[in-house]
Amino acid sequence: MNTGRKVPFFDYSRLYLDNKAEMQEVLEDVGKRGAYIMQRDLVEFENKLAEYTGSKFAIGVGNATDGLELCWLAIGLKKGDEVIISSHTMLATASAIITAGGTPVPVDIGEDGLIDVDVVESSINSNTVGISPTHLNGRTCNMEKIMKIAHDKGLVVIEDAAQALGSKFKGKSAGTFGDAASFSFYPAKVLGSLGDGGGVITNRSDIYEKVFQLHDHGRDPQGEVKSWGRNSRLDNLQAAVLNSNFQKYNLVIKRRREIANIYNIELQQLEELTLPPGPVEDDNSFDVYQNYEIQANNRDQLRQELSDKGVGTIIQWGGKGVHQWPALGFSMKLPKTERFFERCLMLPINMFVSDEDVYYVCDTIKKFYRST
Ligand SMILES: Cc1ncc(COP(=O)(O)O)c(C=O)c1O
Repeated sequence: MNTGRKVPFFDYSRLYLDNKAEMQEVLEDVGKRGAYIMQRDLVEFENKLAEYTGSKFAIGVGNATDGLELCWLAIGLKKGDEVIISSHTMLATASAIITAGGTPVPVDIGEDGLIDVDVVESSINSNTVGISPTHLNGRTCNMEKIMKIAHDKGLVVIEDAAQALGSKFKGKSAGTFGDAASFSFYPAKVLGSLGDGGGVITNRSDIYEKVFQLHDHGRDPQGEVKSWGRNSRLDNLQAAVLNSNFQKYNLVIKRRREIANIYNIELQQLEELTLPPGPVEDDNSFDVYQNYEIQANNRDQLRQELSDKGVGTIIQWGGKGVHQWPALGFSMKLPKTERFFERCLMLPINMFVSDEDVYYVCDTIKKFYRST
């Protein structure tokens, strides 16, 4: 029986409707000042981003994909240079390396769905120049191990932190371990704007200067042209939206962790499922739960049942790892990633999901397995 309850995976209209007064104030303020490109809202946001993550520099960019590419361009990636990535990531991690002139090398995942650190080490060859770990679903990779490998082998590390603002490993923020990192502020991200947006952070002044120039037509902050560049600026209006949303960011993270905790408690007894690590399970990790991704037996039937009962779910990225898209020309087999994509399913987790919604989703899942 359908109770009539609807739990959409993510309700984009509520980003505006639930914050209408604040959003209208932002628009009015920016509009009245005519402050659309590179104005004080952007500077304020960049300062906040640097302060929040504990990094020296932050630059607002058009989106996280551009941010990653600009980082690789800034470190001078060349044809033939290989960068190790997880195949369990968005295509952007790989395409940023391609468009910067290098070659992404996807590797398999570990038990936690993140890049398998042991495989990283054994995949290094004389062409390897870097590692680009993805802090997937709001969980930071084991950066202690990754940075040790990088230091030992002299590799650059550009963190794909698109999903991980606020996430920490051993108390240190995602994005601050390697040479630079890129965040996404796509609307459904934990910190979302009302459009596209991204941010690069780094402690290296040379990377900061280069990314700054590249993202604004080759100009330095004083407007002096130093090189060729392009336009990938974070829109000032989006920066103002982000400043507003940043004020309640810690509450948003707290709420996502609460929801994850309910899912973990309610679903833990189901042996048909593999759950992500819970929020209080591991002292080393502070996860922001960009996504709550389970692995499920009979995944497609479960998804259909949830849909029939009004619950929206997502199978991320078309249900394939980066290396599984024939058009991209990879030939490797990565069994753990492939198995993961056969079973993975994302459940609703965001500010618009109530406790009752979460219990409803869990009950629906429990009933499904009881009846199969
Ligand atoms: C892991 C990961 N990397 C990169 C990106 C690209 O971010 P953007 O859409 O801001 O370019 C995303 C966006 O979903 C992502 O999830």
